Amino acid sequence: MGISMFVGVVLQIFVLVANSEILHRKALKQDNIIRDDLPSQGVQLLEDDTHVVISNGIVSIRLTVPGGSVTNITYKGSDNLLFPENNEADRGHWDVVWNNTAHADQTDNFVGTSYKVIMQNENQTEISFTRTWTLNSTEAPLNVDKRYVMLKDSPGFYTYVVLERLPGWPVFYIQEGRVLFKLNENMFQYMAVSDSRQRFMPKVKDRENGKVLDYKEAVLLTNATNPAFNGEVDDKYLYTCDNKDIKVHGWVGSNPSLGFWMITPSNEFRTGGPLKQDLTTHLGPTVLHYFTSTHYSGEVLAIKFKTEEYWKKVIGPVYIYLNSNDSANADPSILWIDAKQRMQKEEASWPYEFPLSDDFVKSNQRGALSGQLLVRDWFVNKQAVPGASAYVGLAPPGKVGSWQFENKGYQFWTKTNKDGSFSIKNVIPGNYSLFAYVPGFIGDYKHASDITITPGSNIQATNVVFDAPRNGPTLWEIGIPDRSAAEFFIPNTDSRFKIHQYKKPVERFRQYGLWERYEKLYPRKDLVFTIGSSNYSKDWFFSQVTRNVGGKFVGTTWQIFFNVKNVEKTGNYTLQLALASAHFAELQVRFNDRNSPPQFTTGTIGMDNALARHGIRGVYHYYSVPVPGSRLFVGRNTLFLTQPLTTRRSSQKLCMIISV
Ligand SMILES: *[C@@H]1O[C@H](CO)[C@@H](O)[C@H](O)[C@H]1NC(C)=O
Ligand SMILES: *[C@@H]1O[C@H](CO)[C@@H](O)[C@H](O)[C@H]1NC(C)=O
Ligand SMILES: *[C@@H]1O[C@H](CO)[C@@H](O)[C@H](O)[C@H]1NC(C)=O
Ligand SMILES: *[C@@H]1O[C@H](CO)[C@@H](O)[C@H](O)[C@H]1NC(C)=O
Ligand SMILES: *[C@@H]1O[C@H](CO)[C@@H](O)[C@H](O)[C@H]1NC(C)=O
Ligand SMILES: *[C@@H]1O[C@H](CO)[C@@H](O)[C@H](O)[C@H]1NC(C)=O
Ligand SMILES: *[C@@H]1O[C@H](CO)[C@@H](O)[C@H](O)[C@H]1NC(C)=O
Ligand SMILES: *[C@@H]1O[C@H](CO)[C@@H](O)[C@H](O)[C@H]1NC(C)=O
Ligand SMILES: *[C@@H]1O[C@H](CO)[C@@H](O)[C@H](O)[C@H]1NC(C)=O
Repeated sequence: MGISMFVGVVLQIFVLVANSEILHRKALKQDNIIRDDLPSQGVQLLEDDTHVVISNGIVSIRLTVPGGSVTNITYKGSDNLLFPENNEADRGHWDVVWNNTAHADQTDNFVGTSYKVIMQNENQTEISFTRTWTLNSTEAPLNVDKRYVMLKDSPGFYTYVVLERLPGWPVFYIQEGRVLFKLNENMFQYMAVSDSRQRFMPKVKDRENGKVLDYKEAVLLTNATNPAFNGEVDDKYLYTCDNKDIKVHGWVGSNPSLGFWMITPSNEFRTGGPLKQDLTTHLGPTVLHYFTSTHYSGEVLAIKFKTEEYWKKVIGPVYIYLNSNDSANADPSILWIDAKQRMQKEEASWPYEFPLSDDFVKSNQRGALSGQLLVRDWFVNKQAVPGASAYVGLAPPGKVGSWQFENKGYQFWTKTNKDGSFSIKNVIPGNYSLFAYVPGFIGDYKHASDITITPGSNIQATNVVFDAPRNGPTLWEIGIPDRSAAEFFIPNTDSRFKIHQYKKPVERFRQYGLWERYEKLYPRKDLVFTIGSSNYSKDWFFSQVTRNVGGKFVGTTWQIFFNVKNVEKTGNYTLQLALASAHFAELQVRFNDRNSPPQFTTGTIGMDNALARHGIRGVYHYYSVPVPGSRLFVGRNTLFLTQPLTTRRSSQKLCMIISV
């Protein structure tokens, strides 16, 4: 039933307005309590000339027509859960941040121009809001189809979007893409993003009353509504997660006692692979699902299109899940536990059967791949050993490690079992490269041949063997090659910043201001690490940064002392370097001569800003540096690692292995 049926019949339009209000109010609050006594009903849909309401007796959502912005969400008779003071287009919507040579960075909220009911019956409603890009439009050159789905008895709703770009349209870049909901701050106080990171949050006003620190995102709370928060730093990047871990996050309110959760049932439509990090939710209260961004990666992950390029991608569905329990007033985390269970249920239902867009590939149209990953490192084991607890994934064809820069297709990742076996199910048909990385082994794996997945296929991958980079026996090694600097020394931040006392321990690297700690701990002399007596958990600072000397940033040179008993002067040694993150950094390598030209340099690398965003990794860099035996001495040797770039933000996190 489309509104166009009634155009010209003024009276009927008027009647419809009233109906839509009534339907919405039926599910609306009485004295702000959750009503469990509402009768179970099928999904209903009511329209007027400006809005549509869909409701299943548990949840009711109201959207603008034909724009397709969510203006009201109510749960079991609650008030609108969305922020009432924001205008209707700015409470719940999809958007991208984009640019090109004609348009500076800007947000496109995908305002629909056409609205259609795709399906409406007692069991399911699916509505669609589309906009078609035209040559003179100032919006991002994309055709957009936004879908909202409600199912009978489902305490929430689904949303997904289909984006399409046609050949010949202007070249442009997508920096960020997401769906977001801005909740009513008076209703929601407690935020949860993981088992440990959950807490009562400061208010928007608290941020406004605070002091902006090194970055505009980071604010020192000085006059918080809850004085216990004074001295803490609020920064949305404290609540980011790896893509592989962003499955459920949200807020709990106490008046009435209910939870609002974003559930992401699959990672296939995100960019940059499982270790790419992104925002989840933050003060506001704002609940996000990011499907693409340059966060923790930089410009390399901006989606760039060529003139003749055709592109289409389905993002989602994601599930907005609502729950309640009177006991949550005493312990809000019980709603988190319930939301996690629901997340597992949604994950197990992936790929969903209900979406009606032809572009969403159903399970019977998908294929699978299984195999066993082995690792061959002849120095450690004569035979190949199982690649246990490794990440294996299919991503669009590319070279070794290209998955971390991939941002247009779909990626399918899984973790191997103890014996290295893996099974990747529900893969969208297409051509892929098979990639893997194995914690404990430096470098990246790519299968020798690409793999074509067809509908219904169940391919057994053979010869999935990662030859770990190795030129000879290990002389020494610092750290664990696992694409993270978490095992190194991570200081506490400056005492003027109060660390929030979570109930469960939160990773130490999630603190504001760690980049300033190096120069406090090493005010004049740089770090020296002695193989054999130093301990990387205590003596290896997790990031090599520059030092502020009287307002100017100067480079730093770290030294590693190591002994070699016998040097093969004509032999070739290898230094394996892995950087977990880099930001406008350069790493120069010199053996035994601090003043010689560098024997190796990475050149200027990285824009991932992971250190400033309290991350322990960004974009992974791996280097295999040849070292002629003639550079080494019998007895004590020194390896100089110089970070010469002199901006505050230059930094790197390294892990290294030297072998002969
Ligand atoms: C929608 O939400 C706004 C803001 O909370 C509220 O004023 C309005 O009454 C709601 N409309 C309906 C139909 O529930
Ligand atoms: C709704 O689902 C029920 C149970 O599966 C089924 O009996 C009924 O026919 C469905 N209604 C419609 C309109 O499809
Ligand atoms: C685009 O703008 C040009 C110049 O103003 C005009 O001639 C043309 O008709 C417009 N095209 C469309 C599709 O609106
Ligand atoms: C603290 O915040 C309150 C309420 O927002 C305001 O009235 C007061 O002036 C603030 N105090 C300081 C020292 O900023
Ligand atoms: C647009 O974004 C790209 C990708 O992030 C960036 O490299 C470029 O400098 C930006 N261009 C303009 C004109 O802002
Ligand atoms: C509410 O939470 C408590 C404690 O976890 C649990 O025992 C109870 O079953 C929950 N009630 C509902 C209605 O889910
Ligand atoms: C996959 O690769 C084969 C061989 O290169 C090619 O013929 C085919 O068109 C590709 N399929 C897709 C879906 O790209
Ligand atoms: C290194 O230091 C850590 C942290 O103090 C300690 O747990 C570990 O046992 C030490 N390792 C060695 C080899 O001494
Ligand atoms: C060491 O490397 C050089 C340059 O690649 C090569 O010419 C030489 O043969 C190598 N020496 C040995 C012993 O492998």
